[in-house]
Amino acid sequence: MVATAAGRLARRLSSTEATAEKLKMSGPTVVAPPKHLMAPSSASEVATGIEAARKKLDSSGITSSLTNSPRETTVTDKYAYAFDIDGVLIRGGRPIPEAIEAMKMLNGENPWGVKVPYIFVTNGGGKTEAERCMQLSQQLEMEVSPGQFICGHTPMREMAEKYKTVLVVGGEGEKCRIVAEGYGFEDVWVHLHMPTGIVLTVRSVTPGDIIKDNQDTTPFRQLTHDEYQNSRARNFAEVEISAIFVFADSRDWASDQQIILDLLMSKNGRLGTRSENYNEGPPVFFSHNDVVWSASHDLTRIGMGALRVSLEAMYKAVTGKQLQTTAFGKPQMGTFRFATRLLQEWRKDTHGIDFPPSTVYFVGDTPESDIRGTNEFNECTDGANWYSILVRTGVFQEGTTPRFQPKATVDNVLDAVAHGMEREHEKSLEEIML
Ligand code: G3P
Ligand code: MG
Repeated sequence: MVATAAGRLARRLSSTEATAEKLKMSGPTVVAPPKHLMAPSSASEVATGIEAARKKLDSSGITSSLTNSPRETTVTDKYAYAFDIDGVLIRGGRPIPEAIEAMKMLNGENPWGVKVPYIFVTNGGGKTEAERCMQLSQQLEMEVSPGQFICGHTPMREMAEKYKTVLVVGGEGEKCRIVAEGYGFEDVWVHLHMPTGIVLTVRSVTPGDIIKDNQDTTPFRQLTHDEYQNSRARNFAEVEISAIFVFADSRDWASDQQIILDLLMSKNGRLGTRSENYNEGPPVFFSHNDVVWSASHDLTRIGMGALRVSLEAMYKAVTGKQLQTTAFGKPQMGTFRFATRLLQEWRKDTHGIDFPPSTVYFVGDTPESDIRGTNEFNECTDGANWYSILVRTGVFQEGTTPRFQPKATVDNVLDAVAHGMEREHEKSLEEIML
């Protein structure tokens, strides 16, 4: 247990040891920063690291001009890394072979004994940030903290003040409702000292709640026993849904689209109503716009951006009108601004560095989201240079010309890390020569 700033006792969990059960326990939880950032490195650990990194660099054709003997690792304040996850570090739930070595290299196992701060910026989601970090920690065999992690739906957190009741779409079972509740979309019971007793303010509704209330909503989908048990009884005559949030990929496009369409055509988000011109329904937000993504199949799979296109086309076919929807995630500039703030806080809180890096290397596999976003952000920001690196382990396929050109294209994430570190090393040598 550790004391929080507010003086309360909090559970202290290491992100590699934490389990989903432990995260669900009530009370505040502190997910501890990575051990390698809390304790000084021992000389032998550094020596082993350097030897391993040298071998790696040799095998990837990169030669180092350094012949120094092992020394203590230092954290660089000059540059940082930001990583996309699917297609770069993970594919189909399993780490890409070079990913673990790449992380070790950033954590000091390199010829220069340098540790480089880094964050993760994924369009994926469907779980709480803490649960996703716990999973990533196990996959990458190192600790990943929610303080260095953004997923597609993270910005939806900031919308809990604006929208009272939302439809939460996508993901496995009730997981996205749990995410929404963590963001503040929690049902509120108001105990009134009046004869009517208790008033419930509904804040998150799922398609399951709607089907449970009226099975006729979706003629071709019936809830399973578990879905029925987990879905909540609502009085939809009194519920106005003020926004629709697609948190994660839909598991049933047909029924989810039917329900979204009903709401779009409703009067102020009240189910069972139809507005005159079908345009008085709530706005729709998607946590990202990736039309395809890299999963376990050899070829790319359709993703949330495809659902968005499909919904817009369907709305047009049914109403004759154009539907405007909004997507978060990469390549939106808001996501990169968010990432800049996260990196700033991470460097300050974990490494005591209180100024921006000169370069942020962004490693991604999807030209339309990772490379486009990094390049456009680089054009419009006054802060760090954002340097895009495209890998060949995901959406991008060798032999095709990416619509958005990266600064560098490499085989995999280990090469991407080596590329940036080597470049920085050369830059520092040039500075010394001047
Ligand atoms: O659904 C996940 C996806 O579209 C991409 O995730 O990590 O490549 O941004 P990522
Ligand atoms: Mg990706």
